[in-house]
Amino acid sequence: MYRSHNCGELRMDQVGQSVTLSGWVQSNRDFGGLTFIDLRDRYGITQIVFNMDDNADLGEAARKLGREFVVKVEGTVRERSNKNPNRATGDIEIEVSDLQILNAAKTPPFTIEEDTDGGDELRMKYRYLDLRRNSTQSNIIFRSRVGIETRKYLSNLDFVEIETPFLIKSTPEGARDFVVPSRMNPGQFYALPQSPQTFKQVLMVSGFDKYFQIVKCFRDEDLRADRQPEFTQIDCEMSFVSQEDILNTFEGLTKHLFKSCINVDLPDFPRMMYDDAMRLYGSDKPDLRFGMEFVELNDVAKGKDFAVFNDAELIVGICAKGCAENYSNKDIKKLTEWMQRPQIGAKGLVYVKYNADGTFKSSVGKFYEDADLKIWAEKFQAEPGDMLLILSGETDRVRKQLNELRLEMGNRLGLVKEGDFKPLWVLDFPLLEWDEDAERFHAMHHPFTAPKKEDEQRMLNGDFETMKALKADAYDLVINGSEIGGGSIRIHDRALQEKNFKLLGFTQEEAEEQFGFLLGAFEYGAPPHGGLAFGFDRICAVMKGQSSIRDFIAFPKNNQGKDMMIDAPSKIDTTQLNELNLLLNLSDTE
Ligand code: AMO
Repeated sequence: MYRSHNCGELRMDQVGQSVTLSGWVQSNRDFGGLTFIDLRDRYGITQIVFNMDDNADLGEAARKLGREFVVKVEGTVRERSNKNPNRATGDIEIEVSDLQILNAAKTPPFTIEEDTDGGDELRMKYRYLDLRRNSTQSNIIFRSRVGIETRKYLSNLDFVEIETPFLIKSTPEGARDFVVPSRMNPGQFYALPQSPQTFKQVLMVSGFDKYFQIVKCFRDEDLRADRQPEFTQIDCEMSFVSQEDILNTFEGLTKHLFKSCINVDLPDFPRMMYDDAMRLYGSDKPDLRFGMEFVELNDVAKGKDFAVFNDAELIVGICAKGCAENYSNKDIKKLTEWMQRPQIGAKGLVYVKYNADGTFKSSVGKFYEDADLKIWAEKFQAEPGDMLLILSGETDRVRKQLNELRLEMGNRLGLVKEGDFKPLWVLDFPLLEWDEDAERFHAMHHPFTAPKKEDEQRMLNGDFETMKALKADAYDLVINGSEIGGGSIRIHDRALQEKNFKLLGFTQEEAEEQFGFLLGAFEYGAPPHGGLAFGFDRICAVMKGQSSIRDFIAFPKNNQGKDMMIDAPSKIDTTQLNELNLLLNLSDTE
């Protein structure tokens, strides 16, 4: 028998009992006559005591135990004289009667502690050791819990979990596909799914009515803290539903996950139109943990001698509370330079300090009287002591830049509180997005998203400008400024779907070639349907107040898309290339 108990469960109640524990040596403290071992497993840490006077051989053996040795100990539970209130097992310790080394261990390349000395890359290379650390391990266990609660909630609502294939044909979600060569069909390739979108729609045509799947998706795109090339979705689809039904169902799921996994009661989710989100926050995923809404100044700031504002499509700013005093000229210069970095690309930054004595100081002070600036301040509902930060230029660009500034100022001013959760539905996204460079439309969500009912006829018959203004029955769930999920009501009619493909620049042949199966399915009784997908890694990270999804994935990739532990991607040998007909293709293209 390896263990009678785990390393996290013994308490005062078990004092006097003989127990057997197995685990890893977390630390070894040798005090001459006494040696203390902290024995660790997934459940916790228990202190083991070896007394030289009682058993010199055991004491000697204990001294030699290195970090991360795997051992089995037998002994008796006793009350500790020196209790550790920070540890669940801190009232007791084990007085050892037997020790067995189950496996020795090399000294790990970094410490298996909360504050480890290992850098990112090293920890990824030795992921199995990093996963022994309590915080990383508890994130993965948390993820498992969220998955189980998701399954419980959805199956209670009669959702059916159905697996869809990974070796498929491209499903456009806006990223590049990972492709897999087919040995049996030389020169042909599968694509790994960017999402199961078309399959779940076909399942609706088959009559499954409510589908879900916790499923891997693959996207070859640039990586960030909240993006991995393979990630997981809670993917769902429902038939005979309106947008309202879908929002209610998944608001319910989200509330259930928060309550059951972190004991947080979320309020009903507010809703915001996409246009308002862009106007007030410059983002389709506003972080509502703080206000600092945008205020537009076109009506009050134009018409003076300041050409930059006069020529601007939009003049818009935010109010940084209490910053008039503590932002020196140097600080403002630094902030301006931060805004001018290529990542943000602002041309400049105008400030207006509303001083505590009611006077104004501004970088555009020579163009505007205090009385003008007072009107601006009133628009912001600014108070003496506040500072306005203002940008101008082309509308979309300026909003994007000001969004960055708002988030930065929110952080600097400590407005983001730990444990605060602000969910939001963003509704009525545009259907299409005009790409100036490529001179074509892209689907804002994906090509299967339906226009709003009232826009259907305009979509079938309208001109170019009409197309730009079409709204979709598409929605995103945002929590704390992170896009947790997105979905839409789908087109379920062949003519409308064909029209959409046409607008998106597909020829009839291309549409037929890529999506003939779906268009075909629509001719055999497709019910009205819609759905959504949550980013599973993201919802786990957000619930735990973290911005990086990597720590919620057991074996993540680094920013170059590499798995450092197994060293993938890697070369494959010539025989394999040959078998896959890839050598031939490569030389063909040379
Ligand atoms: P969408 O493309 O919006 O929609 O994806 C849904 C959610 O998946 C998460 N997500 C990611 N998470 C980690 N790494 C990535 N690279 C990544 N890309 C996306 C986000 C996002 O909100 N088929 C549609 C859903 C639908 O219409 O039903 C889809 O995939 O949290």
